[in-house]
Amino acid sequence: MSDSMIFVCKTSDLAPGSVKRVEHGESAVAVYNIDGAFYVTDDRCTHGLSSLSEGDLMGDEIECTMHFGTFHVPTGKPVGAPCSIALRTYKVEVRGEDVYADL
Ligand code: FES
Repeated sequence: MSDSMIFVCKTSDLAPGSVKRVEHGESAVAVYNIDGAFYVTDDRCTHGLSSLSEGDLMGDEIECTMHFGTFHVPTGKPVGAPCSIALRTYKVEVRGEDVYADL
């Protein structure tokens, strides 16, 4: 495990198909469990000020609650208007029952 990996949550904190917000410094990230695989992105939607962790996770896409734009979680690619700017994603490592991200 590289030194830059930061603990974000326990695997048991997130059921498959769910997302949660994790504070990190003055910002926050969204942590996702998609069919047992964990992903981390910025929590703030690139279209506005909405928190993506409050959105709806549908398969591997997250829908923002503000204007219903969507992103592909594993890549951060915008896939539904009005979102057009990619979401920042972070490398994730699961070590035992702990989830780490390269924040
Ligand atoms: Fe997220 Fe507009 S703020 S789609």
